[in-house]
Amino acid sequence: MSKDLEEVKAILKKYKQEHLLNGFEKLDERKQKRLLEQIKNIDFDLISKLYEDTKKEIKNEQDKITPMDYLDKYKLKDKYKYYEAIGKKAIKEGKLAVVTMAGGQGTRLGHNGPKGTFDIGLESHKSLFELLSEGIKEEAKKYGVTIPWFIMTSRENNEETIKFFEKNKCFGYQKDKNLFFFKQGELPMVDTEGKILIGEDGLIKEAADGHGGIYESLVKRGMTEKMKQMGIEWVFIGGVDNCLVKMVDPVLMGIAIDKKVTVACKSVVKANPHERVGVFCKRNGKPNVIEYTEITNEMAEAVDENGELLYGESHILCNLFSVDAIERMGAKPLPYHSAFKKAKYIDKEGNLVVPDSPNAYKFEAFLFDAFSVVDEMAILRVKREEEFAPVKNAEGVDSPETARKLYKNFYNL
Ligand code: UD1
Repeated sequence: MSKDLEEVKAILKKYKQEHLLNGFEKLDERKQKRLLEQIKNIDFDLISKLYEDTKKEIKNEQDKITPMDYLDKYKLKDKYKYYEAIGKKAIKEGKLAVVTMAGGQGTRLGHNGPKGTFDIGLESHKSLFELLSEGIKEEAKKYGVTIPWFIMTSRENNEETIKFFEKNKCFGYQKDKNLFFFKQGELPMVDTEGKILIGEDGLIKEAADGHGGIYESLVKRGMTEKMKQMGIEWVFIGGVDNCLVKMVDPVLMGIAIDKKVTVACKSVVKANPHERVGVFCKRNGKPNVIEYTEITNEMAEAVDENGELLYGESHILCNLFSVDAIERMGAKPLPYHSAFKKAKYIDKEGNLVVPDSPNAYKFEAFLFDAFSVVDEMAILRVKREEEFAPVKNAEGVDSPETARKLYKNFYNL
């Protein structure tokens, strides 16, 4: 250990992060080992760069942003049945798997636990995970197949998520046979001076590195390999917080197969120019999404000659990929976006600090930044009332109340 310690001290000196060992002596041996391991795994150059980037303004104007074409599911006319037949055939042949990104906690909802365990308040008190599982199983039954379900968790919620599934008999799924859990990556959080934080447990304060890490995690954790062994060719990746998500969509699949694109995404029309959703666009000629935190007012409000929003196709985290596209995306590092958050930490004197306003940066990669790996992708506009009922906030917009209402209307409850 002393050799390790010396090595780590030298690294920390180089990057002016010596404070990370301030509480080292007080840790038990297991934690000491873990802390040294954590430090050795940190890409300090990356963290310094990400911190420096937080001081820069985000400028979309350097990029050439243009609107993206889309197909409207309900204006496909004869083509609807045509695409549907292609997609149905592929599903029947067992070529589809679904992935739920469930690395997030329900913090904004005020829920203490993995977001998927949240009960949106239906009479049945079913959790988001259960609602999602029903959606997949119902569809799978139509095609006489089982659709493998992959769940992305984070270090923070992996154990609790698995326990929740086990308690609920995995909602009819079988772990490691057609239900798989894999963890997403993490990055350290830094304060406004660029210093990495130590968390309450005396270890490096790490936070989930955003869902952009999903491709790399799918590859590194052996999930894409497993998919290929199972004969899977297409993977739907969706969020955990949309209780109306339609993961099995033969029309979307048929379009992807027929148009020979490796990525196909669903959109809904933006409810208003400032709705908190990302919108599809082309960035320097390549498919992309501009996130709501990064779009300028001018762009958000721009309309075409018919008065429709130029950037009105909302990204609803309903994206279909070929396994091959996932592997290619997993091989290319994505840019990180920073978010300023409240984070408890242990200060230099060893005291716990519980901030009441944001104090630290968290770095996240966004899954849609990988879209630029492909030249073309398909966008299918679907109906909001059929496919988009997100649960994000405790009250108001995108809350359990709004999601419940949409869910009940759709299922005539
Ligand atoms: C997200 C999208 C936005 C989209 C909106 C639609 C991002 C960055 N933005 O916004 O373009 O219009 O949803 O509802 O995603 N997750 C992880 N690990 C992470 C971070 C997130 O698994 O590290 C999962 C969450 O559990 C959730 C989903 O990704 O299922 C969305 O994450 P969230 O942070 O809630 O994104 P939004 O800000 O709501």
